[in-house]
Amino acid sequence: MTAQELRTMYVNFFKERRHQEIASASLLPENDPTVLFTTAGMHPLVPYLLGEKHPAGKRLTDVQKCVRTEDIDEVGDDTHCTFFEMLGNWSLGDYFKQESISMSFEFLTKYLNIPVERLAVTVFEGDELVPADEEAIEIWKSLGLSEEQIYRYGREDNWWGPAGQTGPCGPDTEIFYDMGKPKCGPNCGPSCHCGKYVEIWNNVFMQYNRKANGELELLPNKNVDTGMGFERLCMALQGKKSNYDTDVFTGMIAKIEELSGHKYGVTEQEDIAMRVIADHIRAISFSIADGQLPSNVKAGYVIRRILRRAVRYGYTFLGFNEPFLCRLVSQLVDDMGEFYPEIVKQQTLIERVIKEEEMAFLRTLDRGIRLMDNIMAKSAETKIISGEDAFVLYDTFGFPIDLSELIASEKGYTIDLEGFQVELQKQKDRARNATAIESGDWGEFAHCDNIEFLGYDCTELEGVQLTRHRTVKAKNKTMYQLVFERTPFYAEMGGQVGDTGYILSESGEKINIINTIKENNLTIHVAERIPADCTESFSLHVDT
Ligand code: ALA
Repeated sequence: MTAQELRTMYVNFFKERRHQEIASASLLPENDPTVLFTTAGMHPLVPYLLGEKHPAGKRLTDVQKCVRTEDIDEVGDDTHCTFFEMLGNWSLGDYFKQESISMSFEFLTKYLNIPVERLAVTVFEGDELVPADEEAIEIWKSLGLSEEQIYRYGREDNWWGPAGQTGPCGPDTEIFYDMGKPKCGPNCGPSCHCGKYVEIWNNVFMQYNRKANGELELLPNKNVDTGMGFERLCMALQGKKSNYDTDVFTGMIAKIEELSGHKYGVTEQEDIAMRVIADHIRAISFSIADGQLPSNVKAGYVIRRILRRAVRYGYTFLGFNEPFLCRLVSQLVDDMGEFYPEIVKQQTLIERVIKEEEMAFLRTLDRGIRLMDNIMAKSAETKIISGEDAFVLYDTFGFPIDLSELIASEKGYTIDLEGFQVELQKQKDRARNATAIESGDWGEFAHCDNIEFLGYDCTELEGVQLTRHRTVKAKNKTMYQLVFERTPFYAEMGGQVGDTGYILSESGEKINIINTIKENNLTIHVAERIPADCTESFSLHVDT
């Protein structure tokens, strides 16, 4: 069964059982301020789980796109993803445990033809607040599951709800697919990570609202919230060992093979890189389609980090030193556009945003990795990278700390994270104390609004006119800003450092450029002085 057939079969199954299909909500939560992204099908439905009437009725079904990043470091193995789809069916004060479990069982065994022996389930064992879910256990037994197939776990495993936060919650019963491998030991069970059991579906019996003081109050309705991990289900049904071997991903992996010239299935590191990229391009593209551009704060920062992680894997393991993620978007549109029209509509924007981010980061990455090599050589004895050095990588080169950690750990180094936090705090204090910048008026020499950016192709340019300059005072320091009609200098952007270098006038005057910034679409060169004759032409040289 193909992925597309499975989505349709699921939704139709519940439609035939009087559920109304609803479209996937945005990845950016509108109804739940406790999360940066929609991490489960329930987030868009929170007000309705709390009692508000849903316009589509009491029985709903959907395929919800989700992003979760807690396990981002695991992405690249067989099963972890940051972006995934969750198949859901919902009862908002309609059916409860009996019908919910029976429908799940029927779908799995009668429609997907999974033999009963291949299922294992877990149920809530009870604690001081809520008793064991004997009702769920009895229902599973009545459907033909043996005692050995039913596992009782605590709040860690069998309770769904916002940890330490407020919101709807309740005990759940999780359904696992037994991959048929022998048990790895006497304690092997669904919570074991040996790969024998793959979690495919969770049925949550949402009866409570967790209040800020930790108390559980009964909700006005008894609800059911279910979530089936689409990629994992495809893996189990298609008899694959990895999500990435299913048709959800094979088209994308083939595209990455084609663009990189590397083959999947040859070395582990390259396979991991391809899987990371195949996953991350989905999280990045769908977030942009839903309106979240990469940035330096909150969800935008998460997207920027995911994007940089993908670029870094491609750069290091697959030899991509030109933008490549933007060239994968068309494949994503082919794979998923039929079900998610937003990525078809937004394809051009997605490609453009990704390309700009990639170009900025690739330049930074190259310089940062060289710097990292020097830092590691310096600390070869201790194999510990100091907080100060890690901070320079973060602050000046836009390396997220986890990226530095990743690069360091590959070479057996660790980072002094406490020292890093100290530097971070110092920077925050400095920013608070910084005085306002005073800028003088621009002196103009030639009219030029559009700065042609040539920095990606060359690092030197001759015969360039200065178009304007001004004096800028910050604290007690005076600096000068120069704008040229054309420039090979790359401006600071989104935490990336701007280019440094020098300019040389026809008459031989040399002026150092200490930074390049962008303001109102102008590329501004920060210089230590203004040339003696501004009407001469200049050659511009970027430090490499
Ligand atoms: N909300 C439940 C989950 O995400 C179904 O597992």
